Amino acid sequence: MTAHIVEMENVNKRYGEVVALDDVTLGVDRGEHVVIIGSSGSGKSTLLRCINHLEAIDSGAITINGSPLAETSDGRVRYRREAEIRKLIMQTAMVFQHFNLFGHLTCLDNITIAPIEIQKENPREAKERAMDLLRLVGLEKKAKVYPGQLSGGQKQRVAIARALAIRPSVLLFDEPTSALDPEITGEVLKVIRDLAAKGYTMMLVTHEMGFAREVANRVVFMDNGRIIEEGRPDRIFDSPASERLGMFLKAVI
Ligand SMILES: Nc1ncnc2c1ncn2[C@@H]1O[C@H](COP(=O)(O)OP(=O)(O)O)[C@@H](O)[C@H]1O
Ligand SMILES: [Mg+2]
Repeated sequence: MTAHIVEMENVNKRYGEVVALDDVTLGVDRGEHVVIIGSSGSGKSTLLRCINHLEAIDSGAITINGSPLAETSDGRVRYRREAEIRKLIMQTAMVFQHFNLFGHLTCLDNITIAPIEIQKENPREAKERAMDLLRLVGLEKKAKVYPGQLSGGQKQRVAIARALAIRPSVLLFDEPTSALDPEITGEVLKVIRDLAAKGYTMMLVTHEMGFAREVANRVVFMDNGRIIEEGRPDRIFDSPASERLGMFLKAVI
């Protein structure tokens, strides 16, 4: 049996009458870079948000690193206890479109808060690691600066450093460059590209199709909450099997 880092089985999620996830089954292996594409409202964010439990599923199962986060039996979904959920979701780290940095904390403190407060890391070691991570994203000079003084691209690079600080098993990127001016998306994409080359496991929602093709091992196309097609990037982009994917690609490329 392959040990998936993330496993979703027959996951369903509704918001009232809206079906956001419709029987989604998806496994992500260690070191894989899975890129999720699809039109607005197709369920991409919901998929990521269910993995790190910003949203609860209605039925199905989610397993992280072999441990169940939620399972369904007898038609009822059961989540783990809260303390166990917290441990599991610390194995996932989300990078949001709008950065979601804490404005009242310096960049360094944004990065160390989860390791120190939640993971009970030694503060001195957490700070040293945070400096290493800032160096990794090219922002070591910004340690003492507040997010409000940074450009969007710099904010997102701090957010990526913060995501890495908890030593997650999988990085979840939800349109990490969509809020950025086109001329600065490159600096964020470069950081993500470097992380991919280092072998980090990642799931990435993006509208940057060139980047998707370049960085993905696998591309997943969603429509109306369903996974319609998945496959290697050249197959998905050059020979879409479904009409819906063909139409989507015509509209975005
Ligand atoms: N908090 C929410 N409350 C109600 N409906 C929501 C909420 N979040 C998402 N939805 C709906 O669920 C569907 C999937 O949304 P989402 O996962 O955000 O799609 P995507 O990220 O692909 O644009 C959409 O129809 C959206 O309007
Ligand atoms: Mg979204």
